[in-house]
Formats: sequence, structure tokens, C-alpha cells
Amino acid sequence: MALSLLVCLLFGFYSTRYLIVRAADNNQQPLAAAGRKPNIVFILTDDQDLHMDSLSYMPSLKKHLTDHGTSFHRHYCTVALCCPSRVSLWTGKAAHNTNVTDIGPPHGGYPKFVSQGFNEAYLPLWLQEAGYNTYYVGKLFNAQTVDNYNAPHAAGWTGSDFLLDPYTYEYLNATFQRNRDEPASYEGQYSTDVLARKAYGFLDDAMGDQQERPFFLTIAPTAPHSNVHIHSHKIDDEFTEKSVTQSPPVPAERHEHLFEDVKVPRTPHFNPDQPNGVSWISRLPKQNETVVEFNDHFYRNRLRTLQAVDEIVDEVVSRLDEAGLLDNTYIFYSTDNGYHIGQHRLQPGKQCAYEEDINIPLIVRGPGVPKGEMTEIVTSHTDLAPTFMQLAGAVLRDDLDGAAIPLTAVSLGEQRRTRQEHVNVEMWGIIMSEGNYGSVLYPNHTYKALRVLGEDYSFLYTVWCSGEHELYDLTKDPYEVDNLYHASKETTVDFGFLPSSGSTAGIPNNSTTTTSVHLSRLISRLDTLLVVLKTCKARECTHPWEVLHPAGDVRNLNDALSAEFNDFYEVQQERVYFTQCEKGYIAESEGPMGARSYGMVDEVAM
Ligand SMILES: *[C@@H]1O[C@H](CO)[C@@H](O)[C@H](O)[C@H]1NC(C)=O
Ligand SMILES: *[C@@H]1O[C@H](CO)[C@@H](O)[C@H](O)[C@H]1NC(C)=O
Ligand SMILES: *[C@@H]1O[C@H](CO)[C@@H](O)[C@H](O)[C@H]1NC(C)=O
Ligand SMILES: *[C@@H]1O[C@H](CO)[C@@H](O)[C@H](O)[C@H]1NC(C)=O
Ligand SMILES: *[C@@H]1O[C@H](CO)[C@@H](O)[C@H](O)[C@H]1NC(C)=O
Ligand SMILES: *[C@@H]1O[C@H](CO)[C@@H](O)[C@H](O)[C@H]1NC(C)=O
Repeated sequence: MALSLLVCLLFGFYSTRYLIVRAADNNQQPLAAAGRKPNIVFILTDDQDLHMDSLSYMPSLKKHLTDHGTSFHRHYCTVALCCPSRVSLWTGKAAHNTNVTDIGPPHGGYPKFVSQGFNEAYLPLWLQEAGYNTYYVGKLFNAQTVDNYNAPHAAGWTGSDFLLDPYTYEYLNATFQRNRDEPASYEGQYSTDVLARKAYGFLDDAMGDQQERPFFLTIAPTAPHSNVHIHSHKIDDEFTEKSVTQSPPVPAERHEHLFEDVKVPRTPHFNPDQPNGVSWISRLPKQNETVVEFNDHFYRNRLRTLQAVDEIVDEVVSRLDEAGLLDNTYIFYSTDNGYHIGQHRLQPGKQCAYEEDINIPLIVRGPGVPKGEMTEIVTSHTDLAPTFMQLAGAVLRDDLDGAAIPLTAVSLGEQRRTRQEHVNVEMWGIIMSEGNYGSVLYPNHTYKALRVLGEDYSFLYTVWCSGEHELYDLTKDPYEVDNLYHASKETTVDFGFLPSSGSTAGIPNNSTTTTSVHLSRLISRLDTLLVVLKTCKARECTHPWEVLHPAGDVRNLNDALSAEFNDFYEVQQERVYFTQCEKGYIAESEGPMGARSYGMVDEVAM
């Protein structure tokens, strides 16, 4: 296969309160099988999209999980880049609280995870404390390497077999490192198949021991991530020049001829005639046929690599079934972040706040989880650690930034009305693209974004370190091509809002009256919400309106739009801004560090 090489030259590679579950929620998860703690299997892919239809090409996933479980189609990552997103997932904290914001040092990677103290405080340790055997196969974090894997070993796993850099994304030359063993090379073998065998081994161990201890098993293949080859070239004793080739992912031989006619979905924002967005995105050229064809090939190879993952889904389910454990096991399927190819003229990659990159698959099956359902509730990766802990009956912590995801019909129904409607998305540094034509690295890819998904409204609001802004009304503009931020002052958006005193907490008022709101009013609320979220901790992250309105009378955007708060939002609050573009989370460069609270105009709330 002609793997085309496009080389990004990088020197020194990659230099580049959780709410304490309220009493009412305590019994929201079913106690599985006669009081026995449930087992949990978590399949975590790498860079898998929801918006380019990747799930439609996974028949076993559909049969065993989608049709037998609930799809959370408003599930989001909070930072659309592998390592920061994984650290948020495993710690239950937003990236601004982990400060692991990049894939490698100094701002990210495994060494930063360790130096931030998380190797002593993250999910597998909490699950072990709750009596679980914990297993992990595959990629944990970037920059966990053949040199640093034992300094220290990743804590918390009863059994582990990690993919290590610089071979993590080499589909045909993976290096795995098992428990306390030395790293082992699997040159010439197909990475996902090697990983599958290791996963089934741990699953058998786990099932054998599960009369004694329930288990938590994570299976984390690299598919459908690009194939990454790192070239090292020693210049002298002090300098090694490293370069990276990010070529299309490599399918297993048995899958390499599938889907020959399939192309990236030609949605209205695919390689559009007019550029979209702001900053460097607004300056991207339209892609020519050669580029589009290459990127379609890249896309097909993503779908092909996912076939080996689909086989794992099938095999895991049948092994659980044969052992009689399927009914007492939750299976979660997700990915670290989404992916784009060609939308907004972007080369293959992630890291943007557009839907393709942040709105990702989450499918759950297990005891009490509604079958074949799709839920509208808004969830994010910071909710997963609390969810697993709640299922495991672990001691709930009040320092996590997410809230357990409801998994029963009753709790899903309740939270449909009460759960938060926002997702805070963050990014720092440089964006890398992949494939033949994605060599250019764009700096200043630092932004704060806010997705709000109410019952009858849906917005993306982004503030860039360059001072540029984006605002999309996804109800009317689902592809995010019409930036309303600079639309005329007369532009209005319709809301069906209730008097703020109504304790309806997100229940839409379905009386037909709507109120037209000027953009400036909407933007003032979104911006202030973002001020709170960009530095939120624990409960503030799930309940930011409580910070702004301690009286509790404002529970969502709809309530906050009430004219009685115009002065509070439009005059009294500071806007989100950056004084400089940084490569990491440098607080001094990130503008206001908190917002004022209503009724306490003389005090700064945080
Ligand atoms: C985050 O880490 C960087 C180093 O990677 C450090 O310079 C910065 O001060 C940290 N930010 C915060 C808010 O702690
Ligand atoms: C495969 O990986 C091993 C290290 O695990 C390395 O020594 C070898 O050079 C690699 N082979 C190729 C073809 O890159
Ligand atoms: C298409 O665009 C690519 C990337 O800019 C360029 O390398 C290539 O020469 C172009 N091909 C044609 C046929 O114009
Ligand atoms: C909608 O709001 C109006 C005005 O406050 C109220 O009279 C009506 O009962 C509400 N309808 C619903 C379905 O809540
Ligand atoms: C609101 O909508 C529900 C279901 O859509 C309907 O049953 C109810 O009658 C409506 N109420 C009003 C006041 O329109
Ligand atoms: C990035 O931002 C810095 C200031 O924060 C500016 O000096 C620099 O020119 C910007 N670089 C690009 C490529 O826009």
C-alpha cells in the first residue's frame, strides 16, 4: 500500500464537586443480579467520529450495543485531543483542572499526568478501593514511552498491557508492555488483533475471579487513529531531530478491500466554496480533487480499521454470554475525541470545537439500561469517572467536575428535565493535521468554547486567544457555517422563555408564545456562563448558574435571558478574553478568573 508520507518536522517530538449525589439519585442505578456488584467493560477507541457515520459501518456494535442499549447522542468530550481528553476521562476533571493540556511535555503526556499527582488519584485506584479487579489493554496516554513506562508504572491496574510510544500508532509494529514486564515488540503483527488476544486473556482472568471480585476492563485500541511513524535522527549528543509521519490508518489484510466506493459524507460544510470559521480556518484553501480523493481514501481506511474493533465487540459479548455474565455486566463504548475530514475545508484531524470533533459516540448496555433507545440528555467525558464509580458503589468524591450519567429509564427521564445543558470545551497550543496534505502546523489554536443544548435551542460560542469569536445557532445552522457573532445588531433569536421564578428547570414552555432576543443579549449570557466554566471546579462545573444566581432562580440559559438580568450580564460582567496566545494553561493570559454573582454586585464570586 502506498502510504504517502507527509512529514511534520518537529524538534524534540511533541515539543510541540462532582455533586455529591443527592439522596434522590442514590438509587438511580439498578443493583444488578441479586445485589452483586456489576462488571464493567469499557471499549475506548481513538479519534472515532460520530458525524461521518463511522458507527454505521460496525454491524456487531449495532447488534450488541446500540440495539441492546442506550445511545447518548449528545455526548461530548471537553477537550478534543487524545491525551488531555483521556486524562479528563480518567480523573473526572476538566482540562483546566488537570492542566494536562497537550499530548507531550511540557504541557501534557504521561509525564505531566504523573507530575500533576494523578497517578495517585484516578479512577482505577478508586475502583480498586471499591473492591474491583481492574484491567487495561491498549493506549492509556500519549508520551507513555519505552523509556518512561516504569518511572513510575501507571498505578491502579490489576492487569495491564499498554501500548507504548513511539510505537503506539504503528499498526504493524506495536510495542506493548505487560504488568511489570519489559516492553515487547510485535513487529509485523496487526496491532488490533494482538490487542484483542490480550483483552480476551484479561477477560478470562477477570471472569475466573469474579465470584470473589467484580471487574472493570478497558480495551483501548488505536483504531481508527492515523498510523504514526516517528523518525529519529541524531544530530549530535545533545540534539535529536524527530519527525512524524501521520499516514492513513492501516487495516487488517482481511479488511483492506472493503468499502471501495465509500466517501466522506458530502454534507453542506464539506469542502465548501466559501471558507468558514475564524483564525487560520478562515484562510484555508478549497481542496482540489487530488486532495479530496486522498482524504476519501484516508476515510475508508478508518472504516476498515474499525472492523477489527467490531470483531472485538462481538467476541467480548459472546464470551460474557457464554460465562453467564452478560446480564450483570455494563458495556460502554466511546472514543477519546471526534474527527473531521474536509468539513470547513479542514485536513484530517481534531482539536476544533466543531461538532465533528467534540460530539462523540457513547453507547451503553447493561442491567436496567433501556434497549434500543437514544437519549437527549447532555453528557461529557468528565461524567464517565463518576458514572463508573457510582456503578461500582465506590465512595463518591466531591472534587470531580462531572456528574454520573443516568442509566435507567426512570433516571434518564428525570434528568431530561434537570440535567445541565452545557458543555465547556477547551484547547491550547498548536493544531496538527494528518495525511498527505495536512503538514502545516497552526499555532495559536487556543480557545474557550461553550456548547449549549437546550430543549429548543442549540449554540456553539467560541472565544479565541486571537480575540476572534464564533457563534453558531445549530437549530438553524447545524453545520456551523454561518458565524452570527458579527451579524447585524438587529439580528434576533427566538426563545420560548418562562418567567425566571418558574422552577421548571429546563422544561420547555410549550405555549406557542416566543420571545425574540437580540444577539447582544444572548452573547452576554453565553459569555458570562463561559467565564464561570473556564475556571470552574467540582459542582460549579455542572451547576454554573448557581454561581451566577445563588438564589437558585435561574437554572438554564432560557431563565438567564430574562430582561431583568440585562444589566447584570451586559454591564456588570467582564467578558472572556486572552491577553496572549499560550501553548498551555497560563492563567495570567486568560482574562477574568471568575464572575460576579447576582445580588452581590460588590463581590467577586470566585
Ligand atoms: C499549567 O502547567 C504549566 C506548565 O505546563 C504551568 O506553566 C502553568 O502555570 C500551569 N497552570 C496552572 C493554572 O497551574
Ligand atoms: C519495530 O519496533 C522495534 C521496537 O519495538 C524497533 O526496534 C524496530 O526497528 C521497529 N521496526 C520497524 C520496521 O520500524
Ligand atoms: C492539489 O492541491 C495539492 C495541495 O495543495 C497540490 O499539492 C497539488 O499539486 C494540487 N493538484 C492539482 C492537480 O492541482
Ligand atoms: C407557559 O408559560 C405561561 C406563561 O407563564 C403559562 O401561563 C403556561 O401555563 C405555561 N405552559 C406550560 C405548559 O408550562
Ligand atoms: C404541551 O405539550 C404536551 C406534549 O407535547 C401536551 O400534552 C400539552 O397539552 C401541551 N401543553 C400546552 C399548554 O400546550
Ligand atoms: C500568535 O499569537 C501571538 C500573540 O499571542 C502573535 O504574536 C503571533 O503573531 C501569532 N501567530 C500567528 C501565526 O498568528
